[in-house]
Amino acid sequence: MDEKYIAASLIAAADENIDAELVYGAMETPPDRRMGDLAFPCFRLARTLRKAPPAIAAGIMESINKNPLPSSIAKVENVGGYINFFLDRSAVSKAVIDEICERSEGYGRSDEGEGKTVVVEFSSPNIAKPFHIGHLVSTALGHSIARIYDFLGYDTVRVNHLGDWGTQFGKLITAYKLWGDEETVRKDPINELLKIYVRFHEEAEKDPSLEDDARANFKALEEGDEKITRLWKMFVEASLTEFDRMYKLLGVNFDSFAGESFYTDKMPEIVEMLREKQLLEESEGAQVVRFDDESMPPCIILKSDGTTIYATRDIAAAVYRKRTYDFYKNVYVVGTPQTLHFKQVFGTLKKMGFEWADDCVHVGFGYVRFPDKAMSTRKGDVVLLEDVLTEAVAKTREIIENSATSKDLENVDAVSETVGVGAVLYTFLKNSRERDIIFTWKDILDFEGESGPYVQYAYARGRSVLARAEEQGIDYASGDPALLTGDEEYALVRMLSKYKDTVREAAAKFEPSVVTRYVTDLAQQFNKFYNTCSVMKAEDEIRRARLKLTGCAAEVIKSALYLIGVNVVEKM
Ligand code: ARG
Repeated sequence: MDEKYIAASLIAAADENIDAELVYGAMETPPDRRMGDLAFPCFRLARTLRKAPPAIAAGIMESINKNPLPSSIAKVENVGGYINFFLDRSAVSKAVIDEICERSEGYGRSDEGEGKTVVVEFSSPNIAKPFHIGHLVSTALGHSIARIYDFLGYDTVRVNHLGDWGTQFGKLITAYKLWGDEETVRKDPINELLKIYVRFHEEAEKDPSLEDDARANFKALEEGDEKITRLWKMFVEASLTEFDRMYKLLGVNFDSFAGESFYTDKMPEIVEMLREKQLLEESEGAQVVRFDDESMPPCIILKSDGTTIYATRDIAAAVYRKRTYDFYKNVYVVGTPQTLHFKQVFGTLKKMGFEWADDCVHVGFGYVRFPDKAMSTRKGDVVLLEDVLTEAVAKTREIIENSATSKDLENVDAVSETVGVGAVLYTFLKNSRERDIIFTWKDILDFEGESGPYVQYAYARGRSVLARAEEQGIDYASGDPALLTGDEEYALVRMLSKYKDTVREAAAKFEPSVVTRYVTDLAQQFNKFYNTCSVMKAEDEIRRARLKLTGCAAEVIKSALYLIGVNVVEKM
């Protein structure tokens, strides 16, 4: 049951020129409960109906009063150009709680995506380079977006578009041949490869012939030279082992690791198509696609030496994905500095005649800022992911060990890991993604502020009350939700009823922060309910109803946290 829908229909019935969908979308939740549970601002219809809001409101009231109200609506009032609806709390509570209990883990899920495939490309770190914080943000966002689409019934394909190709691999091979050694690389691949790569640049300044050697090595790699390819494979494998450790810690998985190298043999066809459609023009020796009409710089397809670049590989990748997955949406979770790149890639696809270019979406995100002095790192300004995660877990452990309530936890290690990692993920998904992320330990691990631990704690609190009830043999499944009519109980019920719309909004905007905001509000409202209404000490009927509500709140908190990649703990 959707009361908003019922209320909108009542309004729309007043005049055939009223669009029920517009009314539904314009329906507000009044800030003050005395103004009802839902309110419709009549000025939204002023233009269509060519009447002043008070006159519109009067007309709507007249129409509504003609018939008895539907059972879920207790009262309707017209106040200052607003139509205020007061819902029947008992009916609403019963409908919402019954639905959650019935669907349990399935609550909020839908099958609206059935038969549609969404490709979500995310993380995409570069081989032989550190996995930096930007890649972690992409990982957190993409992981969450994929889970949200799964939840709505879409088939999702998680793709890690590894940066495993390009002229830098020629340099790396030259450097490795001169100064590298397999055992050291396997032991600490990223640091070791980075070290010889940096050394290459230093030495190449003195000896430019190294650059020639690097070019020759990359050419040999492109041509499939066996020995060189074997080296390259070793770099890729060693780096992936490192990345995997982090993915495991985060609970992230992929369906495909088709990185840039995967498209080497798929590019000639693309270049041929571009040529055939006469889209390629020469510019300073390179072959480019121009966007003069869109006043956008050209997209380079072939460099002057005939080699392909990053953008060429992306065009080939998009075509490959369309052919392989026939996607409904093809999503790229990559920082906003690459906005122009994706405009050029999608623009080229469009010029090639691929209408589905419009289904390709660049989901951008901002920078992470570290005001904490102590966060500056081992290596200049790149903040390494592993440092952040390890420190988050260590700091969480410290807090837990010093807290009075969690002293007797048996699994401190596991709890610290879940809470510490969750705290970092929560922070990345807290605000709209295009805003910069301000990362300070104080905020991230603030158990009382808007943080991951705060929400996880609300869950654990709910679960421990339920565990106590179970110990005492209280059968709260039999609680009657129609009794949940008190202000704080009812506010919590209403919030639970908004879960479905929340997930849909997050999906449509590719914005996990919509879910993060929601689960934070939900945890706050749960705490408010818990602090205001006694649960275990209430009289039996009320106690069972409140316990049932507690169970539903815990269920939805867990479900929403799952959608942002955060796990729960039963005790903390
Ligand atoms: N590897 C790139 C980087 O680290 C990100 C790849 C983004 N995805 C893409 N299809 N271009 O900057």
